[in-house]
Amino acid sequence: MKHIVFRNETISAVGMGTTGFWSGSNPGLCDCIRTAYDTYGMNLFDTAEMYGNGRCETALGKTLEGLPRDRLFLVDKIHPDHAEPASFARSLDYSLIRLNTDYIDLYLLHWRENVDLPFLVDAMHEAQRQGKIRHWGVSNFTIEDMKDLFAAGGTDCFCDQIFYTLYERGAEYDLVPFLKEHDILPMSYSSLGSNYYSHPDVHNNRTIMNACREYGIAPEAYMLSMNVAAGFAALFTTSSLSHLQDNLAEVSDETCAALKPVFDREFPAPDHAVPLVKI
Ligand SMILES: NC(=O)c1ccc[n+]([C@@H]2O[C@H](COP(=O)([O-])OP(=O)(O)OC[C@H]3O[C@@H](n4cnc5c(N)ncnc54)[C@H](OP(=O)(O)O)[C@@H]3O)[C@@H](O)[C@H]2O)c1
Repeated sequence: MKHIVFRNETISAVGMGTTGFWSGSNPGLCDCIRTAYDTYGMNLFDTAEMYGNGRCETALGKTLEGLPRDRLFLVDKIHPDHAEPASFARSLDYSLIRLNTDYIDLYLLHWRENVDLPFLVDAMHEAQRQGKIRHWGVSNFTIEDMKDLFAAGGTDCFCDQIFYTLYERGAEYDLVPFLKEHDILPMSYSSLGSNYYSHPDVHNNRTIMNACREYGIAPEAYMLSMNVAAGFAALFTTSSLSHLQDNLAEVSDETCAALKPVFDREFPAPDHAVPLVKI
């Protein structure tokens, strides 16, 4: 698996989310995460206090139990309602307890809502000083949101985690270049299009399926590689070991280059700015 070296951090270019733990235990997802770590060298795992009211954090903590902590890169997110003076520190402490860890590698504001950005930046910096988080960032922030964040003193923001997939490529027109220019890591969530978003399934597209068959890969493997090639750390999830194997299959640069025109024709990138989709 490819790894990204970003601000001295080595992060697997593809990582896994945890929404499959929403209702609690999910042995399939548990197996997939452990296999992704053991067999593929994945170290990037994403969760949020909102997911299943903390159940996903707890399940991720249990799944990773016993692994060397310094080899993992854990991403967690605070709900905007808790990003205020009375609850920020408590929320973070509860997340640490549920994850069963002393620190979070990357702590994100889940989405902007009406959060007081100067407060957020100060609170993130304080949590860093206390050693409870190593880096901080945001999720679902547009360029305008990012500019407001910079104005609030948040120029050291590490990452903007956004929806970016074959079906929603708007960010590559303007947001991704903006993030790269400001040394902020773009991280894509729902990189396979998600179940919670209505889109034309690639599996129903004969042109794409024939091209993928010719090169012996699943469309999901191309989708993840496309996001990585666009500069993202790409998150997805699966509870199926056979899907995991398909998705993480090596896609050579040559295969990616050969398939790109086919995918681009079927799912063109926008040639103008489009609003950022949030799911
Ligand atoms: N920051 C945010 O606001 C935000 C929002 C949404 C999500 N996220 C994060 O991103 C993570 C991933 O997003 P997501 O779960 O929405 O979407 P996703 O990873 O795009 O899609 C997951 C779905 O794809 C299916 N799938 C995976 N591989 C497949 C394959 N080879 N063939 C057919 N189906 C396949 C999975 O089913 P199977 O289990 O059957 O494989 C699952 O239902 C989340 O878990 C979460 O951590 C963040």
